Amino acid sequence: MSLKTTQLKITKFAKDFLLATRLLQLLQPFNKLFGFIYNFNLLTSWIHKNKKANLLTNDFYKPVRSYDDREKSFTAISDHYNLGTTPVSYLEFGVAHGNSIKWWLATCKHPDSRFYGFDTFEGLPESWGVFDKGDMHSPIPEVNDNRASFYKGIFQDTLHGFLMENSSKIRQHRLLIHLDADLFSATLFALSQLYPYLRKGDIIMFDEFNVYDHEFMAYRLFTECFYINLKPISAQNNFYHAAFEVA
Ligand SMILES: C[S@@+](CC[C@H](N)C(=O)[O-])C[C@H]1O[C@@H](n2cnc3c(N)ncnc32)[C@H](O)[C@@H]1O
Repeated sequence: MSLKTTQLKITKFAKDFLLATRLLQLLQPFNKLFGFIYNFNLLTSWIHKNKKANLLTNDFYKPVRSYDDREKSFTAISDHYNLGTTPVSYLEFGVAHGNSIKWWLATCKHPDSRFYGFDTFEGLPESWGVFDKGDMHSPIPEVNDNRASFYKGIFQDTLHGFLMENSSKIRQHRLLIHLDADLFSATLFALSQLYPYLRKGDIIMFDEFNVYDHEFMAYRLFTECFYINLKPISAQNNFYHAAFEVA
């Protein structure tokens, strides 16, 4: 019997044995701890592998986080890719009061740029850390700019139809995607729907990238399952905000 066949037999026996006896369920109280250790270690390895990449901005390591520092990354990206003067299709997932979409509306001045904001506008559809379902609810923001449009509802309901209707329109320009829904489910869903429309040179920004069990996990599963290469281009707040170019 070859080594491979023996290995397969042992693996199969061990797996069936564990399923039948439920032995590992003795460790169930530690599930969260094991999950934390495993996933946080993946994040730590990723950051230490990428912290010296040639990024437009990078403040790793700094002891105190300043949320507004994400705008340093926004500015660096906008300057580097000339987004102030070239048309762009900006898609934002997680709009809330509109702070970030307003920043990009004010910065990307080209009349052909278009801005699409997706949100429940009724708050988070599930809890996230200390935030409960329904937190962060806000009315659709007033932006006074007819280049912007908003899509109310969970992405799982709104995004597919939007893409069916607008795919050729959004693809006329570089895609600038801002993922700021915080949640693993929402982020992975948005990425997987957008995948067929992504092109080399598109930009994807994550607002809470270094949250090990949410946006980072969505990034990891998306890049692993879709074999897509996202090249890091900028990071702020110890990779809390991180941006990538589709390579
Ligand atoms: C952190 S807030 C967005 C902040 C905003 N980008 C800013 O800079 O001010 C996150 C938003 O994501 C939205 N959200 C999360 N998951 C969603 C989903 N599956 N569908 C629609 N909206 C979602 C929530 O309603 C919430 O308003």
